[in-house]
Amino acid sequence: MTLPSFRAVQWAPDGALRIIDQRLLPGEFVERDLRSVVDVADAIRTLAVRGAPAIGVAAAMGIVAAADAERASGFLADIGALRRFVYDAAAALQSTRPTAVNLFWALDRMRALLDAAHIDVLTLAAALRAEAEAIRAEDEAMCEALGRHGATLLKDGMRVLTHCNAGALATAGIGTALAPVYAAHAAGLRVEVFADETRPLLQGARLTAWELTRAGVPVTVITDGTAASLMGAGRVDLVLVGADRIAANGDAANKIGTYALAVLAKHHKIPFVVVAPSSSVDAQTASGEAIPIEQRDATEIAQLGERRVAAAGATVYNPAFDVTPAALITHIVTEDGVLCAPYHFDRATLSLPPA
Ligand code: MRU
Repeated sequence: MTLPSFRAVQWAPDGALRIIDQRLLPGEFVERDLRSVVDVADAIRTLAVRGAPAIGVAAAMGIVAAADAERASGFLADIGALRRFVYDAAAALQSTRPTAVNLFWALDRMRALLDAAHIDVLTLAAALRAEAEAIRAEDEAMCEALGRHGATLLKDGMRVLTHCNAGALATAGIGTALAPVYAAHAAGLRVEVFADETRPLLQGARLTAWELTRAGVPVTVITDGTAASLMGAGRVDLVLVGADRIAANGDAANKIGTYALAVLAKHHKIPFVVVAPSSSVDAQTASGEAIPIEQRDATEIAQLGERRVAAAGATVYNPAFDVTPAALITHIVTEDGVLCAPYHFDRATLSLPPA
């Protein structure tokens, strides 16, 4: 009965950003220490670090790690230079991935510190590090709360279906959608997980299965297309997924294929639950139609590794996310508790930081 003890994002002893390189899992466990904006942006873009909360935390910590490395080399000696560096770094990191709102939320928090008047360079550097650490620590705490609240939906013997990876690897803590599973498991409940392999980058087969097996949670990997027949056979009791962005009306963007699961769950009368921290809520976006969906490279679908599998001449369409309408979502679990439809998110109902 163990909770994940590894951390997808953390501080290295010298203050660098330390990530687990998720491109190499499950074959190799490699941690990388990042000290430049270029390296942090590349890690986010190439999914070395991934999952909505982890991206936001990594961006905030990455700015600090990069700024401190520059200062250690004798640059950014005056406050103007440090301010410009942080603005430029935030702009660069913001352009890496468009869908997970956690990235923009974290970068806004870092930028907000730059407006303070009459501050010297050392005080600003310390404030930036403290804010990045607060973002990291809050995410860890929110994961714990998601687990506590979400576990109230789980009963002994339940079979949970999940999609992509919304576990510890996707956050600074124990995960979002997998947090209730870990909490229930730690409390002694027998919970079994079906993990969609999650085409095309296989976050379910590679990452969800890796972290659940390490924690001793029984997990069965299925192809994405198996979910329907599994539900039809009465072998799924609950669907738990994460979210990259939840609009004010409860529409939720998550890994491509999540919407299909929600439709299937509705048809089979299985509760479909989104588990996400308030940092994934975008109260400024009225509904899912306005959520920007990341389009990724065609090779992710057209190739298996280096080998081309799609017929030459075929066009590839590779959106990384889809939007599940709120009407299909039985509950949204946040760190504040288990919510029911109709959903309406604004800054007053969730513990979002001031605008
Ligand atoms: O492209 P990825 O691997 O970053 O996509 C991740 C997901 O879709 C997760 O389900 C989502 O970020 C929620 S993670 C806690």
